[in-house]
Amino acid sequence: MKKISQKPENRRILVVDDEPEIRQGYRRFLSPEKIERIESSRSAPAQAGDAVGAEGKDGDGPVSHFEVTEAISGDQALEIVQRELSVGRRFAGAIVDVRMPGRIDGLQFMQKAWEMDPNLLVVLATAYQDRSVDEIARFLGARFQDQWDYLNKPFTSGEIIQKARQLVSSWNRREREHAYVEQIKLQQNAMVAQEQLAAVGKLAHSIGHDLGNIMQQILTKLELENGPGSQPESRDERRIRLNEEMIEAVELGSTICQDLLAFARRSREVAPPNRIAIAAPLQKSLRLLRQLFRKKDITAELALDESAETVAHEARLVQVFVNLLTNAVQAMADGGKLKISLRKAAAGGVDFELSDNGPGIAVECLPQVFEPLFTTKGAGGNGLGLTVCKTIIESYGGTIAIESKVQAGTTVRIHFS
Ligand SMILES: Nc1ncnc2c1ncn2[C@@H]1O[C@H](COP(=O)(O)OP(=O)(O)OP(=O)(O)O)[C@@H](O)[C@H]1O
Ligand SMILES: [Mg+2]
Repeated sequence: MKKISQKPENRRILVVDDEPEIRQGYRRFLSPEKIERIESSRSAPAQAGDAVGAEGKDGDGPVSHFEVTEAISGDQALEIVQRELSVGRRFAGAIVDVRMPGRIDGLQFMQKAWEMDPNLLVVLATAYQDRSVDEIARFLGARFQDQWDYLNKPFTSGEIIQKARQLVSSWNRREREHAYVEQIKLQQNAMVAQEQLAAVGKLAHSIGHDLGNIMQQILTKLELENGPGSQPESRDERRIRLNEEMIEAVELGSTICQDLLAFARRSREVAPPNRIAIAAPLQKSLRLLRQLFRKKDITAELALDESAETVAHEARLVQVFVNLLTNAVQAMADGGKLKISLRKAAAGGVDFELSDNGPGIAVECLPQVFEPLFTTKGAGGNGLGLTVCKTIIESYGGTIAIESKVQAGTTVRIHFS
């Protein structure tokens, strides 16, 4: 993890009091060096009193050195806070007289100051006749309850120095914590962005795969349109049928592209799934692959309950069925028979089954077939078809499984919820 850059500590304190002697006292306690310098330049003996002397004895002089700015009223203090903020400078804390003449008192000043800088910490200097701690708490509100402290007048130099130290150290600690949290957020955002990039990469891979399939189908149909027909139909009939099949393929490709665009925009523009009859996308897929079946001498025995429904996107189920049927066709190099069934399950949902009598899947390969990029087809396969199917089916709360016997065939089972 990258280290947070160490900013110099903010030791700036704003003192707000209408009485000049009190302000002078604050300055003497909190910024003694400056006072001493001023006084010695006037050739006057130092009058810093206990505080200055005590700090010297403690040997921790720098700890109690603060940058003090004075204001004589709440209004002037507000102007100072605003002016400093406009040049990017903030006070760590303010020591504020509660009762002050003028338009606003110390509490009203704090309310307004927090509107400008909500992190400002404050010590309120109160006299017994001023408001009680409970009254102050009610006035300043729960949001700022841990951002103020108070000191009863009259106070000693030690009390004021210690309060100032607390203001400064807790303001700087809060800032460090804030910077740390911000840094963690940035790192998390970077991680999310990276994951999204990886997801887009995966999606691009699977879309390339699906669009490739579709292009291949269109190409086959275009070739057939111009070649000699193998079916008892007129040239025009063949053209119309092939055109319809190509339109379906293009529509599927277009849906896949829309999904990609919606995903890239990170929007929820993908329409919600509908309750659909599963037989519809299944039959569409069979139509798309009809030529391939014919070419490879593959027949299909169908037992479809046309009323079996699920909630899904039709185009996505076409993607699933096309992938499964393509696998089966590719496996049955010398032709064969497919059995396809769709029936409502007794316990609810719908069961789909696709069996081929191809060569089956080797026992050692079976556990890997759903893994991305697993293929036994060399350059002829991407190893993504079943991964795509599983992702889609599971996104609708369904399950998909494969059973296979070498030399006997393979069965894919899907349960739609
Ligand atoms: N019906 C099946 N008969 C025999 N093997 C199958 C069958 N279906 C899948 N397989 C095996 O599972 C592997 C993974 O299938 P998957 O569809 O994920 O990828 P692929 O077909 O190799 O490539 P892609 O589908 O990306 O073009 C296949 O390479 C194959 O070994
Ligand atoms: Mg495949």
